[in-house]
Amino acid sequence: MPKVYNWQLGREMDYRFEGGMQERQFAAVFNINRCIACQTCTMACKSTWTFSPGQELMWWNNVETKPYGGYPHHWDTKLLQMQDEADPGGQVWNAGASDAKRAPYGQFEGKTIFETADGIQQVATGYIPAEEEWKSPNIYEDTATRFPAGGVSLPEHSGWFFYLQRICNHCTYPACVAACPRNAAYKREEDGIVLIDQNRCRGYRKCVEACPYKKSMYRPSTRTSEKCIGCYPRVEGTDPLTNGLPMETRCMTACIGKIRLQGLVKVGDGGEWLEDRQNPLYYLVHVEKVALPLYPQFGTQPNVYYIPPRWVPRDYLHQMFGPGVDGAIERYSNPSRELLAVLQLFRATQEIVFTYKIEQGPKTGELNVGGQAREMFNDTVIGLDSAGREIVRVTVDEPLIERRDRFAMNTI
Ligand code: SF4
Ligand code: SF4
Ligand code: SF4
Ligand code: F3S
Repeated sequence: MPKVYNWQLGREMDYRFEGGMQERQFAAVFNINRCIACQTCTMACKSTWTFSPGQELMWWNNVETKPYGGYPHHWDTKLLQMQDEADPGGQVWNAGASDAKRAPYGQFEGKTIFETADGIQQVATGYIPAEEEWKSPNIYEDTATRFPAGGVSLPEHSGWFFYLQRICNHCTYPACVAACPRNAAYKREEDGIVLIDQNRCRGYRKCVEACPYKKSMYRPSTRTSEKCIGCYPRVEGTDPLTNGLPMETRCMTACIGKIRLQGLVKVGDGGEWLEDRQNPLYYLVHVEKVALPLYPQFGTQPNVYYIPPRWVPRDYLHQMFGPGVDGAIERYSNPSRELLAVLQLFRATQEIVFTYKIEQGPKTGELNVGGQAREMFNDTVIGLDSAGREIVRVTVDEPLIERRDRFAMNTI
């Protein structure tokens, strides 16, 4: 089996295909700290793509409550257990072996889902969920761990839950693509979006079995599998709303909590992100390192990144996001001046922001964060499109707009 480099694991790994990389990769950052579980994203996707017969149990976007919730039920703990059984005690990280570019989280010393599979029956360890497991997508909503006696406070709450927003990760090394015997699942060269060719698919469901995130789903009415299509017509810029400019997806632009930022990043032949300092996604993932991949140890190199929740016990977060958790939470809790500005770009525009610049503003105050003195500035962040034209500008301080007297009563 060919060897490919997985920068999230800090090492080479086995994968069915050679790199075969594209120029740009669909990617997103989700800020878990801000999500209110309103499910607007879920309904935006559902009402656009999966409202037809046979798609009743299909939620390409879902928001589940961790630690107990999951769609399908227990998708992650089931696979973690299978991986542990295949490599008892070996699924560990060497966080010390880090290298800023090639191994920013250190090195994963365990085995990926491709490496625990036998390579004959399965190219990736996995399972096909039973129909029952797909039926209640929001099971255990808002269910916390045991409620502690007395109060709780940061940095870690002893009674906790959080919302995990999930779409297909449009992985760099997709398990669905590797597993399909018909080569019906494929990764687009132009933007790395992973699709299933409905004419080629024969419903073998190896993609459903192999996807560690369970984001390939079988549709009984067509006897094919379907998955999140990354809203590719919008990403291509063919939606009339933006006159040919690449646009963020439905689930991203509908987000009430402004927790999502999506775009396209430049990638090299080895799947690594090419330096692009002023791309907001590059900045959040590679410069500030506040956003981390979900279960990177599975080995698919997922392209949705998460700012981890500040209040959740670190052990839980380490198994979910890897060794970068402590640094990410520290930098998010006590943000740099630049990070504060870039965070304002989330859902500020429907068009994809390719680069940003910051205009420095006046000092607006001083405060104390975790015992450290901080100064606050009302900087302005400006988002630019792929041609360098300004598409949005947002200030750190939200402007206060006073309602004029004649609009005070709702009489006109
Ligand atoms: Fe394929 Fe699953 Fe990765 Fe999506 S998340 S690209 S369905 S392996
Ligand atoms: Fe649905 Fe588009 Fe979001 Fe995918 S990117 S989950 S297709 S709305
Ligand atoms: Fe969370 Fe945004 Fe989805 Fe609401 S729309 S559930 S805030 S990700
Ligand atoms: Fe292939 Fe999955 Fe269809 S394995 S044939 S894409 S159901």
